[in-house]
Amino acid sequence: MADLYPVPPQAQASSPSRVTSLEAYASLCRAIAADPDAWWVAEARRRLAWADPPTRGLDGSFHDVVDSPVAWFADGRLDVTASCLDRHLATRGDKPAIVWEGDEPGTTRTLTYRELHAEVCRTANALAALGLRKGDRAILYMGMVPEAAIAMLACARLGAIHSVVFGGFSAEALRDRVLDCGAELVITQDEGRRGGRSIPLKATTDEALAGLTEVRHVLVLRHTGAEVGWQAGRDVWWHEAVAPAAPTHEGVICEAEDPLFILYTSGSTGRPKGLVHTRGGYLAWTSFTHELVFDLREDDVYACVADVGWITGHSYIVYGPLCNGATTLMFESTPLHPDPGRYWDLVERHGVTVFYTAPTAIRTLAAAGDHHVTAHDLSSLRVLGTVGEPINPEAWRWYHEVVGQGRCAVVDTWWQTETGGMMIAPLASATPTKPGSATLPLPTVQATIVDAQDRVLRGPGQGRLCLTEPWPGVARTVWGDHARYVATYFSQHPPWYFTGDGCRRDADGYHWITGRVDDVLNVSGHRIGTAEIEAALVTVDAVAEAAVVGFPHDVKGQGVMAFVVLQPGEQGGSTLEASLQQACRTGIGAHARVDRLQLVPGLPKTRSGKVMRRILRKVAEGDVSSLGDTSTLADPGVVDVILADAGLSR
Ligand code: WTA
Repeated sequence: MADLYPVPPQAQASSPSRVTSLEAYASLCRAIAADPDAWWVAEARRRLAWADPPTRGLDGSFHDVVDSPVAWFADGRLDVTASCLDRHLATRGDKPAIVWEGDEPGTTRTLTYRELHAEVCRTANALAALGLRKGDRAILYMGMVPEAAIAMLACARLGAIHSVVFGGFSAEALRDRVLDCGAELVITQDEGRRGGRSIPLKATTDEALAGLTEVRHVLVLRHTGAEVGWQAGRDVWWHEAVAPAAPTHEGVICEAEDPLFILYTSGSTGRPKGLVHTRGGYLAWTSFTHELVFDLREDDVYACVADVGWITGHSYIVYGPLCNGATTLMFESTPLHPDPGRYWDLVERHGVTVFYTAPTAIRTLAAAGDHHVTAHDLSSLRVLGTVGEPINPEAWRWYHEVVGQGRCAVVDTWWQTETGGMMIAPLASATPTKPGSATLPLPTVQATIVDAQDRVLRGPGQGRLCLTEPWPGVARTVWGDHARYVATYFSQHPPWYFTGDGCRRDADGYHWITGRVDDVLNVSGHRIGTAEIEAALVTVDAVAEAAVVGFPHDVKGQGVMAFVVLQPGEQGGSTLEASLQQACRTGIGAHARVDRLQLVPGLPKTRSGKVMRRILRKVAEGDVSSLGDTSTLADPGVVDVILADAGLSR
């Protein structure tokens, strides 16, 4: 087949992996499938440092998830940070654990495993002194600084539960999350830095916490040195609390199924939900997938340029790589600062071997011109990864040819906040690739495609992607709302986990993710619910009603289009547009904005009052040739006005 790219010789040469061919991949899949419990118990015992190694694999099943979440390694007990730090001290004490590159090129800091261990211990001692105990929740609202990883690990070491809130979120969004998880401690910094700009993290935290007595302490890292507001008694400087603390700390031993973190993500309805990941299974899954997919080697310099505020940062900047004893790079800046050569400058100066980013960044950089890439020596690269949204074949080829110079394996990794780690992805050392395809399910993953009538598709076909068997990394529940977890993931195609994604499987069994089939948008790899944007838009006084849909966007993957009905007597214009953008910024954050706006006299609704998004999606896509029957609408005439105003005809 013309479009099949063999595994590049360099990606295979001297691979330490057991899996260097499709046959080896298939036999690993078979070995696991033959007895997943036994295989995973042995794997988890080998991969992690346990206080009490587990004897049990999976407990429960997706059939019983209504009554109780699944469990993995339930009789095992561990301190997660012993796997990520302590056990590396003997063999990798002086190996760089975290290499940090700041916003300005060349601002770097390296923490060896020994140094990182000491910092995490100090921070754990400081957090304990502030009253953080096993099971307590701490919110982290930080930029991309090493202390973000240190704070996560320090919480983990205490048996506390962290919830990282992406630094782009607004005060309102931060406040919602603080309240939802019942956090008593918030960790932030004076300001973040990104692309030459400062982000007022402490000021936003103060706004979010105004009037809240539940949060007893705010630990503040001094990063830029900016003046910040201060609430005596509540606020504590990081350097005053952490620096004098002892560099040793005995990690708290937890059950494998104790929660490790909560991460909020957008769904198709209502407010963001806090997915709960637990300790043993999550760590085993991130460590396994990180090693297998990237074909990790001891001397790799591994760089994932995501943000720790998203699941990719949790699993593949912090937990997976550190559990594997890798050198992981943390990057504070953007791909465009100070110019579109920044990533490649980073690769050249740090000798990066594995580079992991999002398709939006790849498309942006491809558009900026090849000379930004070719100006740099990228010979250290061996594996190039992508995640977060579908990658179009043109962008894939550019990544492969211009960045990878045809010698690197490109791994398009499909997964979700809910899955904890990668699920469908090539193995760099084994899987031939096709541009635009995430290829094959990882060993253990049972992927199935069903049609809307719940019929399982065999062989090639397109439908909705479900996962039929539990894997160790699956999120166990939604914080405080198990019923919502069940309703969201297990009610559409029971008893299976429904991903919310559409997927096509070709004749070779390769998977092509077609995007969300629910009301979740994926804008530049950021998940945003249409309901969240609508809720923000209707806070504007002039707005009576709003409906939001996605449309294909050349760079961002998806753009946001809002159909807005104004209150009687109100009119559009630049003031209205500015207040709509501001409402998104205030309600959600800087990453949420409306790309296209259409004022409409009414929304197309069924007689029962449900908005027919299908129609709006077609309008947003600019193709209404197959609009279908609109006669069942409460007011069919509204569609004609919307089409006429959009300059479309059927
Ligand atoms: C999408 C990010 C196509 C998908 C790790 C999924 C992808 C959502 C890919 C999860 C990929 C992620 N190809 N689509 N390789 N990776 N997605 O929770 O729609 O932020 O459901 O997790 O991103 O986004 P989340």
